[in-house]
Amino acid sequence: MEKKILIIGASGALANALSRLLLAETNHSIYYLTSKDLKNDVDKNRVFKYHPLELKNVKNVCFNILPDVIINCSGFSDIVQSEEDRKLAWDLNVRVVENLVNISKILDSHFVLISSDLIFDGLKGPYYEDAKPNPLNYYGKTKHTAENICLSSLKKITVVRTTPYYGIPFSDNNTFLDDYIYKLFRNYNVNASDFFFTNPCFIDDLVITIMKLIERELYGVFNTGGAEWISHYDFAIKVSEIFGFNKKLIHKIKNPFEGVRMPLKNGLITLKTETNLSLKFTTLENGLTACKFRYFDK
Ligand SMILES: NC(=O)c1ccc[n+]([C@@H]2O[C@H](COP(=O)([O-])OP(=O)(O)OC[C@H]3O[C@@H](n4cnc5c(N)ncnc54)[C@H](OP(=O)(O)O)[C@@H]3O)[C@@H](O)[C@H]2O)c1
Repeated sequence: MEKKILIIGASGALANALSRLLLAETNHSIYYLTSKDLKNDVDKNRVFKYHPLELKNVKNVCFNILPDVIINCSGFSDIVQSEEDRKLAWDLNVRVVENLVNISKILDSHFVLISSDLIFDGLKGPYYEDAKPNPLNYYGKTKHTAENICLSSLKKITVVRTTPYYGIPFSDNNTFLDDYIYKLFRNYNVNASDFFFTNPCFIDDLVITIMKLIERELYGVFNTGGAEWISHYDFAIKVSEIFGFNKKLIHKIKNPFEGVRMPLKNGLITLKTETNLSLKFTTLENGLTACKFRYFDK
C-alpha cells in the first residue's frame, strides 16, 4: 500500500540515505521537514522548512500532510557536546520526540524512532532487544528517555536501535567511524579506542531495515548492527587495510571522547530483526569495500 511518509530532520546523514532508498525502491509519497536547504533532488513542494523544535509549526505541518508514517531522523548525536550542552541535547532528543508522539497519537500515524546502543552500560554486551538499559552518559540518557516515552504512549511505534553506523564518510556530519575514513584519506592522525567494542552498522542495512519495518508495519524494538563485534581501534585498522591507508596514522587511546563515560562491551544482537525481515547484515569486509567503490570508484 502506498503511504505518506514524513521524515523529520531531513538534512541529516541517515535521513538522506533513507530518502534515497525510499524514492528508488518504493511508491510512497515522501515529505520532508528540515531546518536547512536540502541538497538532494527532492520534490520541493514536499519540503517544509522548520526546525524540529518549532513545535507548533511541526504540528501544523503534520496536520496538513496527515502522514501514515512519521520517521524521526532529527537528533543531537554528538556524545561529547551532549554532555556540555545538556539542555540542547534534551530538547532535541526528548522534547522533539514528545511532540511527535503526541501528534502521532492524534493522527494515528506509525511513529519510527531511531535509538542507540548507548542506552546500555556495556558490562555484558552485545545486547538483545529486551535487555535492561542503563545509560552511562547524557546522550544515552536522552535516547533512553525518548524510547520510554514512545513505548509507553503509542501502539503504532517502532524503535530502531542502531550501533554507530558507517558508510557516508564525506557528509557534513560524519559519524566518528566515517571520520576515520575521512581523516586517513587525508593522511591525518586518528585516535581510536581499543577499550570500546561494538558491532558497527553499515548504513545500507539500517535504511533497508527501516524501509522493511514500515512496509510490514512491524511494531516494537528492533536492533540493527554489523556482523562483527570489534573495538573502535580495530575498525580503524580494518579501514586502513581495505582502503590501503597508512596504518601508522592510527593511535590507540583509551577514551577519545574527552572523558565522557562510554560503555566498554556494547553492541546489539540482530537476530530478531534479521529473522523477521529475512535479512543478513553486512560484514565489515563487504561494507567497507562497498564504501571504497562508492566513494573512490575503484
Ligand atoms: N550517527 C550514529 O552512528 C547514530 C547511532 C545511533 C543513533 N543515531 C540516531 O540517529 C538519528 C539520526 O542521526 P544522524 O547520524 O543522521 O544525525 P545528523 O546527521 O546529525 O542529523 C540530525 C538532524 O537533526 C536536526 N537538528 C536540528 N537541530 C540540530 C542541532 N542543533 N544539531 C544537530 N542536528 C540538529 C538536523 O536536521 P535538519 O537540519 O533537517 O532540521 C540534523 O540534520 C539521531 O536520532 C541519532 O541520535 C545515530
